[in-house]
Amino acid sequence: MNLRIPGPTPLPPDVIEAVGQQMINHRGPEFEAIFAEITDALKQFFETKNDLYILTSSGTGSMEAAIVNTLSPGDRVLAVTIGVFGERFAKIARAYGADVVQMSYPMGQAANPAEVAEKIRNEGPFAAVLFTQNETSTGVTNDVEALAQAIHEAADPSPLILVDGISGVGAIRLRTDEWGIDVVVSGSQKAWMAPPGLAFISFSPKAWEAYAKAKMPRFYFDLGDAKKYALRNQTPATPAVSVLYGLQVSLRNMLAEGVDGTIARHTYIGDYCRKGVQELGLGLFAEPGHYSNTVTAVTLPEGMSASKTLATLRERYNIVAGSTKAPGVEMIRIGHMGYVSTADLDQVFAALRELLAERG
Ligand SMILES: Cc1ncc(COP(=O)(O)O)c(C=O)c1O
Repeated sequence: MNLRIPGPTPLPPDVIEAVGQQMINHRGPEFEAIFAEITDALKQFFETKNDLYILTSSGTGSMEAAIVNTLSPGDRVLAVTIGVFGERFAKIARAYGADVVQMSYPMGQAANPAEVAEKIRNEGPFAAVLFTQNETSTGVTNDVEALAQAIHEAADPSPLILVDGISGVGAIRLRTDEWGIDVVVSGSQKAWMAPPGLAFISFSPKAWEAYAKAKMPRFYFDLGDAKKYALRNQTPATPAVSVLYGLQVSLRNMLAEGVDGTIARHTYIGDYCRKGVQELGLGLFAEPGHYSNTVTAVTLPEGMSASKTLATLRERYNIVAGSTKAPGVEMIRIGHMGYVSTADLDQVFAALRELLAERG
């Protein structure tokens, strides 16, 4: 099957082999060595010297961890949203009692740094600003560097910056320390080429200061516990050992390619996908200049149904692409993060070409 959803992504053969290994004691030395190696490798891709924790949960768990470990009920939070996953970040904060001011951009657009800064100046102070690096629902990548800079300049002290990098980090540049991002989260089933089940969270010294005062309820995702256990390269509860096996292999492969090499590969494949789509005469949903290098949202011509297209791709060509809901827009999403080749994308283009030809 040509799995072209934006996560879970296909596993390379050596990762598949690794995840099938026998269990080990998660309180023993073999585990501790794996955990230490993975934590160190992840920090290289997060481009951070901050603490970084591995959580056993899907990506959403790490978003929840970002919020409950830094905020208190009633805290004013600015949630900048450009799609479904930005909305989710805002919802989590609201669920825990934050006073969320939501700044929503229409689907397909990126957040505007100057407007975000203005919002902070006019309606601040905010305890934190939440936003998404790469909005998987629309194929839009925010300019995290510019947003962080604008946020830092808009208020003194600057609000905490919490970034959902779930479908971006490991594929799209995010310089956590250089850009001053307090919390960054990601998930194993995306660019990391591992199965779903692990999430990652980097946590700055300023985030730890906030942690000391944060009063939202927390237990499973309490990073204070994660910190204590991480000192011995363990986790508070039983981790997804098999996913760690896979991740160890994929991170070794990614490090062999290097951080810059991995990012360059995604830039290439992102360009390749957009070019292929445009050559078919199909549209790109994302705002130019903010195209995602991990997922492309493709708009279909008038009268061509997204759900029918997805069904035909699956049934006739064994290609599984992603659906998406933007009101009034028929579009599909093609995932191209992690283990994906130009040949995989060529198959999608060939299938779409036939479908378009059949419509005449
Ligand atoms: C940007 C983004 N945020 C959050 C999530 C939620 O992650 P999960 O489904 O692993 O909980 C996803 C998953 O697609 C995502 O792409």
